[in-house]
Amino acid sequence: MTIGIDQMGLYTPNFYIDLRELAQARGDDPDKYTIGIGQDQQAVAPSSQDVVTMGAAAARELTIDPERLGLIVVGTETGIDASKAAALTIQRLLGLNPWVRALEIKEACYGGTAGLMMARDYVAAHPERQALVIATDIARYGLATGGEVTQGAGAVAMLVTSNPRLLALADDSVHYAADIMDFWRPVYQDTALARGKYSTEQYLAFFERVWTQYQAQTGLTVADFAALCFHLPYTKMGLKALRLALPAADEAQQATLLARFDRSIQYSRRIGNIYTGSLYLGLLSLLELDDTLAAGARIGLFSYGSGAVGEFFSGTLVAGYATHLHRIDHAHLLDARAALSIPTYEQLFADKVPYGPADYTTNPAWFSGPFVLTGVVGQERQYQAN
Ligand code: HMG
Repeated sequence: MTIGIDQMGLYTPNFYIDLRELAQARGDDPDKYTIGIGQDQQAVAPSSQDVVTMGAAAARELTIDPERLGLIVVGTETGIDASKAAALTIQRLLGLNPWVRALEIKEACYGGTAGLMMARDYVAAHPERQALVIATDIARYGLATGGEVTQGAGAVAMLVTSNPRLLALADDSVHYAADIMDFWRPVYQDTALARGKYSTEQYLAFFERVWTQYQAQTGLTVADFAALCFHLPYTKMGLKALRLALPAADEAQQATLLARFDRSIQYSRRIGNIYTGSLYLGLLSLLELDDTLAAGARIGLFSYGSGAVGEFFSGTLVAGYATHLHRIDHAHLLDARAALSIPTYEQLFADKVPYGPADYTTNPAWFSGPFVLTGVVGQERQYQAN
């Protein structure tokens, strides 16, 4: 029996900004954003979209067997309640089986991987069951901050089952954790604090550490991998990590890994950092845009969550995987989005659910997507199908 990812869903809000326009507005060279950082566009979430609406929208793409669903786990670092799990609201919005464990996991961008690994262990113990993993986030650093170019918004949903149809996960994870302050978000604010350069150094140090240990533990080398996917806070970050692994590969394999890496970053270039879902956005981009991968191909995945936890693990592609993807729907999701001017983005950025007890109403002019937050009444978020 294999265990792994059977289906994947994606959602990102209907609005974006062009990063060349943002560079101009901030007085930066656009090449810094598109080449130096490696981002073209950035998803913008109006206040009527939050981790619940986006997570539910991504999970709506999956076909879930109500009799078999036993676990719903949401990984997020931009949750909307310090106590209650977003998984419960998503369960209600989607009308999912109530005979489940439903919870939320937090460890920065590592939360999606933590959920995936929990789901894998759950299905290993209960092979008849299915587990729904949702990684959903809105990355906000603030207007005209160093991190602004690395914002984004979106969600990836994964159904984990036995005998999966997309990616069979190997039981080969190597994980490493250490208490560092590279990026964090105090509970009283919705924008993250980052020691930017230090965080990039730590990301690479964690990758080197787990990658070296992974090879020692498994006996596998870069030659065993058809593709490597990385957590993508911005796509240049993943490229820097890939470059650490490349020298051990021969020339032909280096070219293959670089070409496939390029396909794995296309969705991120247009959406930005979606924190917990970023690694899986990269995996989805690779699977949907690459037509050179064959069944049995081994894909390596590096997950990094600031704070920090790093994990390297792998999976092998299942025969026929391409027929279980939603490639055309996702192309439409991205292509149909509306571009915002920078002043309009700035207005949307400022219009947010207040950190306080006051009631709040979201603006229906920005309603889009299958679910929306209509406001907050008596300190309770109000959701509706759109
Ligand atoms: P910065 O100071 O604005 O940028 O910060 P820079 O000066 O370092 O330049 C960036 C790159 O652009 C450099 O390339 C420049 O050379 C290049 P590099 O040397 O890195 O290869 N550049 C140009 N290229 C072409 N034409 C030009 C040009 N000018 C410059 N004209 C930083 C960048 C990413 C640090 C900032 O945006 C930031 O703080 N972002 C937020 C933190 C972050 O994303 N950290 C990543 C690692 S931590 C992580 O992944 C976890 C995270 O996802 C959160 C979580 O776990 O929850 C963030």
